[in-house]
Amino acid sequence: MGELLLEVKGLKKHFPIKQGFFRRTVGHVRAVDGLDLSVNRGETFAIVGESGCGKSTSGRTILRLEEPTAGEIVYHHETLGKINVEKADSKLLKRIRPEMQIIFQDPFSSLDSRMTVGRIIAEPMVINDTLRGRELKDRVAELLTVVGLRPEHASRYPHAFSGGQRQRIGIARALALNPKLIICDEPVSALDVSVQAQVLNLLEDLQERFNLTYIFISHDLSVVEHIADRVAVMYVGKVVEVGTTDQLFYNPKMPYTEALLSALPKPDPRNRSKPTLLAGEVPSPANPPSGCYFHPRCPYAQEICKKEAPPLQDTGDGHLAACHFANELTLKGATPLTEIKAPDIITATARHQASVAASSAAQPTEASEQAGSGATS
Ligand SMILES: Nc1ncnc2c1ncn2[C@@H]1O[C@H](COP(=O)(O)OP(=O)(O)O)[C@@H](O)[C@H]1O
Ligand code: SF4
Ligand SMILES: [Mg+2]
Repeated sequence: MGELLLEVKGLKKHFPIKQGFFRRTVGHVRAVDGLDLSVNRGETFAIVGESGCGKSTSGRTILRLEEPTAGEIVYHHETLGKINVEKADSKLLKRIRPEMQIIFQDPFSSLDSRMTVGRIIAEPMVINDTLRGRELKDRVAELLTVVGLRPEHASRYPHAFSGGQRQRIGIARALALNPKLIICDEPVSALDVSVQAQVLNLLEDLQERFNLTYIFISHDLSVVEHIADRVAVMYVGKVVEVGTTDQLFYNPKMPYTEALLSALPKPDPRNRSKPTLLAGEVPSPANPPSGCYFHPRCPYAQEICKKEAPPLQDTGDGHLAACHFANELTLKGATPLTEIKAPDIITATARHQASVAASSAAQPTEASEQAGSGATS
């Protein structure tokens, strides 16, 4: 067990639903509905789940970009000790915010198109008044180099860059204040598969270089398989399973995880079993089902599942699952990546793995997106 950096306990974020002339509150969207997780220093902790299950709201609420409705967010600061982020006043928030940054999914809308890349990257340092003048310029140049771009790119505007390069600019900006924790919210989902692997490689390199901790949010399990140390699966605002990447991928304990894994690529494309397990719609977080939220879609559901919500419990070796039958069911995990050979089903991670294996020869793999190619103007 590593050293704790962040603990989230019972975190809730409910958005009011307002209707009518007087805008009366008629209900709540329970976007995050009792989130529990703990993240160790230096690890990559992935949060996965279908669209709308509350991943982004969780990330934003942990950073207090959204005010939590309830729950605790405990950040372990190196000198200040344990800080309850949900109670922190503006002065304390200003002190700890530089340590906690976020990278967004869409590099096209998350960068201000009217600002030069240099200003975009410099902005956090200007706002926090950490550097000025020559030092600031030098730091921007250094950050551009760190993310595989060139110092002269500082004078250009975001529209002159490709998707992968824009994501690199977002990463440089997130690094500006020497963060400890970066929440990566679907950082490669908007990118082409080949570029995804390059940005994942960059994130891994930066993690090692700057001892970063990542919360890596993705709707795509195959993207987190290589990069994550541990994975939490979310379903309708709650965590339903947490384990090491191996535990979760190869020995899932919660039927929803099994269903997500069934949609991953199979080794032999002629013999693909259909991912039929995930039938039906994701329930609305404004009106979730009774008992276990997964029961209307679960092939193993029994009477108790409709009535009682299963708690998130340790099934052994720190592998947590929220299922009444977690220790009785034998669920099917993913096919090991090593067995995936067919080129037509290659995934970003399989591709990434192949590139890692090939890179012992230290060949630059990012030719199309890195400094060499410059901006696509
Ligand atoms: N500002 C908001 N107001 C009302 N509902 C919201 C707001 N932000 C998110 N939601 C709702 O909360 C749920 C979770 O959203 P989100 O966290 O974006 O999910 P994910 O990132 O997993 O796709 C969704 O039903 C979404 O419509
Ligand atoms: S508690 Fe019941 S409905 Fe929920 S995942 Fe387990 S078996 Fe399925
Ligand atoms: Mg999201």
